[in-house]
Order: sequence, then structure tokens, then C-alpha cells
Amino acid sequence: MKVKVSRKAHFNAAHRLYRKDWSFEKNDKIFGKCNNPNFHGHNYELVVSVTGEIDQETGFVIDVKILKDLIKTEVEDAFDHKNLNVEVPEFKNLNPTAENIAVVIWNKLRPHIDNANELEVMLYETPRNFVTFSG
Ligand code: NI
Repeated sequence: MKVKVSRKAHFNAAHRLYRKDWSFEKNDKIFGKCNNPNFHGHNYELVVSVTGEIDQETGFVIDVKILKDLIKTEVEDAFDHKNLNVEVPEFKNLNPTAENIAVVIWNKLRPHIDNANELEVMLYETPRNFVTFSG
């Protein structure tokens, strides 16, 4: 019997979507306003879910306090109030789209989650636009 346990979190961050190897015109065509050279910000909403068997002793799939602290250390401390392109090493050569941010977050959290449990990362870039990655 598997149960999914989820924790919501939040961070603000700035980014710019562009490729150094493309002309400004091409970047503008593909990324539109997100190619603004002066960057722009988003209020990212994050939902991290861990699915697995309930531990018979504790009644938990995962202690949400542990999940909360893990998200704080790995995601909030690393991304919150940061310029993703400039200040977060993972995006030095990786376009910080919602898709790529979700994969980076998943890769940061995965080593800390019990191998027997599944991990899913849902990232909202706006209230209407969101992506999901589960490995
Ligand atoms: Ni954007």
C-alpha cells in the first residue's frame, strides 16, 4: 500500500531565458519577454512528493519535518532571492526554464530520499504554468 506525501515550498528568483550561441533576434523570437537582458522574477511554487510504503513503526512514509528541512537546505537556501543565471552554478550553462529547474531540484533531492521511495517535483512558474518531473 503506497501513499504519496507532499510538501509545498516557495522561492522567488530572477532569470533570463536565452542561449549565448544564438543572436539576440533569435533569442527574442523563441523566448520573448523572458529574454529581457535585465532579467525578470518569478514567484516559484514548489510541491515535492514522496511516495512509498508506510513505516509500520512510525506510521510515516517520510517524516515531513525531514522533507521540509531538506527542501530548505537544498532548494530555498540555494535559489531564494537569487539570480538563477548568475548565482546558481547549475544554470551557468543551462537555461533556467521551469523544466530545467524542476530537473535540477529533483537531482538535488534524490540522493537524500530513501531508494525505495519515489520522488516527484512539481514546479509552478506562474499560477497557471507548471511542470512535473519524476525521474
Ligand atoms: Ni520567466
